[in-house]
Amino acid sequence: MHHIMSIIGARPQFVKAAVVSRLIRSEAWRDRFSETLVHTGQHYDENMSAVFFREMRIPEPDINLGVGGGSHGSMTGRMLEGLERLILERKPDLVLVYGDTNSTLAGALAASKLLVPVAHVEAGLRSFNKRMPEEQNRILADRLSTWLLCPTETAVRNLSREGVEDTGPGAAPTADSPRVANVGDVMYDASLFYRSIAAERPAEDRALRRLGIDGPFHLLTLHRAENSDDRGRLASILSALGSSGKSILFPLHPRTRKMLEAFGLTVPGNVRVIEPVGFLDMLDLERECEGVITDSGGVQKEAFFFGKPCVTLRDQTEWTETVESGWNRVVRAEPRAILSALSAPIPSGSRPELYGSGDAGERILAELDH
Ligand code: UD1
Ligand code: UDP
Repeated sequence: MHHIMSIIGARPQFVKAAVVSRLIRSEAWRDRFSETLVHTGQHYDENMSAVFFREMRIPEPDINLGVGGGSHGSMTGRMLEGLERLILERKPDLVLVYGDTNSTLAGALAASKLLVPVAHVEAGLRSFNKRMPEEQNRILADRLSTWLLCPTETAVRNLSREGVEDTGPGAAPTADSPRVANVGDVMYDASLFYRSIAAERPAEDRALRRLGIDGPFHLLTLHRAENSDDRGRLASILSALGSSGKSILFPLHPRTRKMLEAFGLTVPGNVRVIEPVGFLDMLDLERECEGVITDSGGVQKEAFFFGKPCVTLRDQTEWTETVESGWNRVVRAEPRAILSALSAPIPSGSRPELYGSGDAGERILAELDH
């Protein structure tokens, strides 16, 4: 029996843990694993946190550290202190971290310093832009991990280029000779599993009906620091969207709401702002929209899963396969590029199976059941 301590804290981590934490408690795995689920508190609004636990039936966290807000150093430092204490108290066999947030880095660092092996889900992703806090977090988490659980072959190749190779069959992995495996993408598992749950809801509970949407629309999400914290970029994106002629639905991330207010920027009339939505509503919106405009990592892929053209408002993406397959256009914050991408023809052809077959959660647990 392995005791896993899973550390989550931000919205995309709830979606990923929903898959793995559910499996840990399933009949197939509950004799092999037990879990202490730790919420750092990084995201804390009802519609950024609690709604995911409730709708996705994620087990209640055993502990919530309540560390949200503040600067990178302050947030990560307070998380480290709380996590170190918890790891010492609960003595897990391994610590599981997801993605690239400050909660990921704090979890990996606290465990590694206490010589508790770290498993990193979404290892090996790179944007090759170290100005992004996420790039710093993911590189550091990878360096400290014993299990590098990659979502794509590109991620395995990125690690190989950095000299991080799989330790080979039979050998027990360590942080110095880690296990590197392409297990597929847990977000694909989540999208498959929860889309049928979303579809089972009565029609009056579904997102489109509740929001009174009865015409074509584009779905927009925007929260990356490089966009939200830069007045020029934010203004340039809003102005391009304003002249796009599209009807755009914008579940607004609290960070971006704060920055729009701070900069005194207004959202154009064709962009309808709503509160952030739960995952089931998000799946409804992704399924029903004409296209997606985003700077989110997860939403770029979900657009691909649903066969919706995506315009990515960033300088680079770590999900390069979506671009290579023609479904995603990375356009920076450049108005002409945004408008041209929005009027490009819908990609034709099939979507290759780039993110596994919906069994990433199972494959992660099989790797950890050493
Ligand atoms: C974080 C992650 C980012 C991820 C995103 C997912 C880091 C460095 N960044 O960015 O990689 O893509 O989560 O959404 O870890 N806030 C609220 N209520 C909340 C959460 C946040 O009001 O429930 C506000 C606070 O003012 C906070 C600000 O948003 O200071 C930013 O939150 P923070 O967690 O620092 O970063 P995100 O932008 O959410
Ligand atoms: N998401 C959601 N409601 C929203 C916006 C996003 O449920 O209002 C989901 C989205 O479907 C995806 C995840 O949150 O599964 C992505 O999180 P986010 O964009 O915050 O972070 P990133 O993936 O960029 O790190």
